Amino acid sequence: MNSPVMQGLSLDAPSWVRNAKLIAWVADMVALCKPESVVWCDGSQEEYERLCQQLVDAGTFKRLDPVKRPGSYLAWSDPSDVARVEDRTFICSKKKEDAGPTNNWTDPAEMRATLQPLFDGCMRGRTMYVVPFSMGPLGSPIAHIGIELSDSPYVAVNMKLMTRMGRAVYDVLGVDGEFVPCVHTVGAPLEPGQQDVAWPCNKTKYIVHYPETREIWSYGSGYGGNALLGKKCFALRIASTMGRDEGWLAEHMLILGVTSPQGRKYHVAAAFPSACGKTNFAMLIPPAGFEGWKVTTIGDDIAWIKPGSDGRLYAINPEAGYFGVAPGTNHDTNPNCMDSLDRDVIFTNVALTDDGDVWWEGMGPAPRHAIDWQGKDWTPELAKETGAKAAHPNARFTVAATNNPALDAAWDDPRGVAIDAFIFGGRRSTTVPLVTEARNWIEGVYMAATMGSETTAAAFGQQGVVRRDPFAMLPFAGYNMADYFQHWLDLGRKLQASGATLPRIYTTNWFRKGPDGKFVWPGYGENMRVLKWMIDRIEGKASGQEHVFGVSPAYEELNWTGLDFTPEQFKSVTSIDKAAWEKELTLHTELFEQLAYHLPEELGATKARLEKRLAA
Ligand code: GTP
Ligand code: SPV
Ligand code: MN
Repeated sequence: MNSPVMQGLSLDAPSWVRNAKLIAWVADMVALCKPESVVWCDGSQEEYERLCQQLVDAGTFKRLDPVKRPGSYLAWSDPSDVARVEDRTFICSKKKEDAGPTNNWTDPAEMRATLQPLFDGCMRGRTMYVVPFSMGPLGSPIAHIGIELSDSPYVAVNMKLMTRMGRAVYDVLGVDGEFVPCVHTVGAPLEPGQQDVAWPCNKTKYIVHYPETREIWSYGSGYGGNALLGKKCFALRIASTMGRDEGWLAEHMLILGVTSPQGRKYHVAAAFPSACGKTNFAMLIPPAGFEGWKVTTIGDDIAWIKPGSDGRLYAINPEAGYFGVAPGTNHDTNPNCMDSLDRDVIFTNVALTDDGDVWWEGMGPAPRHAIDWQGKDWTPELAKETGAKAAHPNARFTVAATNNPALDAAWDDPRGVAIDAFIFGGRRSTTVPLVTEARNWIEGVYMAATMGSETTAAAFGQQGVVRRDPFAMLPFAGYNMADYFQHWLDLGRKLQASGATLPRIYTTNWFRKGPDGKFVWPGYGENMRVLKWMIDRIEGKASGQEHVFGVSPAYEELNWTGLDFTPEQFKSVTSIDKAAWEKELTLHTELFEQLAYHLPEELGATKARLEKRLAA
């Protein structure tokens, strides 16, 4: 095999890269992937702008109007590459049982043999970008470093907004520091003289994790969680296995701070499945009737949570930006988010308006004409006739956290924030009530473990079908789900034994629908009414009403100032239908049968108790 040097490619790492293992690994990957050139990214603004210009020249980016949307770009992906591909995502642990029945598993040796020919020459005719990033504040004891090798400049610029990326990472890494190696290719080598396309990708896709060696290999997609490997692949799948081994948690959770008019501050971490309201909740603006209350954002998608020496759980956001759902976001539903999107944004798969701005369904009044995410003419009339969408339902924005006007002062604090409550909330048009507080940690773990949710456009495949999504982690747990439940139970037991007060656990459902098919609960900022009740509970100010599954508020316990919501409407989002729950519990049984290997015995016992209560 030709060495890269023999191909005329200098592998000279810049002087600021001094980690021998890293340099050797990059050399190996260059030999395997055979890129035309290698760029060691330094994370500078100048580099970001240069790569964005290069993406404009290549036709991947459109520069948006510099007055309406300064510093912002629009990318349209290939129509076959618009979301995470769960059926192409693999956890390749040595033992199948360690991946568990909810993950796709392949023997690591077999997977390496499959990937070897795919990666051989996969970057021909392209540039390999070496992207150094820190998940978590640089140099923090809870942060971890990754290096992503990618042949996608789109990935490089997104990583700049989403992570702490750049030269400073190499200072932390030093000569012998540890990093998670992440290899990414769009899987579209170019023959000499071959014209590139705007969004290269391959119909064959592999998103592969080797948890024991902490490696990530991603082939064939340029989109979101398939390609920005710091996010789901590292910060959730690999990090969850690190957390299992080291006694901490990596969770699909937003983190917010909520401050009362009296100045008391609480921190809440909430796990909602993909496209089920994390970004919205993390940026919530308290409505009328909540004067003096303030909600601030620590994170909108991922939380790393570690026990402190005081027995409390401390959470950091490993990310530094948001890759959020555009459709449905507007100045009424999420003003903080809209303000975050004023400048320096990368939009993917939204529509382009005639005046060089962006539009998506649910943003506000439709333009008379736009170019849709597939580059075709779009008008409101056409939409009415054919149902054509201007933006893809999983269209996203990428933006730095520092754009968020509600950013918490402690968002970058390496110590993290102490968590007072966990929330688990699925998307359910029936059955699950607005809010329930678990009676204890084990019942809370049970509710999180058995959570169901209707599938969304965030993942490729059928939408709107209820599936179990334990802890909102179904696509993201890097190891056996039953072991993951055990890890949560063990952690609770350990903290309790140290005399600490555990965070309360709640479940929510903002998505119950009425007979007209519309959401009954107004949601968005109005979710503050539920959040405030949780705080009242923590402060001992609300007694709640106990039912089969836990404690829920009486109508009178919520502050209704500024909202017209009748006791009848409240009943329709909080009622517990016995027949529906009997059916629901059979789905819990199915899940537990699937997860029988290593399923914690407490969960089966909890189910039996709930069944008995329901039957009574
Ligand atoms: P991921 O980034 O995929 O993990 O998703 P996320 O949980 O951050 O989802 P996000 O907050 O971006 O919301 C996705 C969709 O849910 C958007 O279309 C929102 O308009 C909608 N949504 C968010 N909050 C609410 C709510 O309280 N009620 C209703 N009805 N819809 C909501
Ligand atoms: C999700 O699907 O939960 C996301 C988007 O946050 S992605 O990064 O594409 O996974
Ligand atoms: Mn997510």
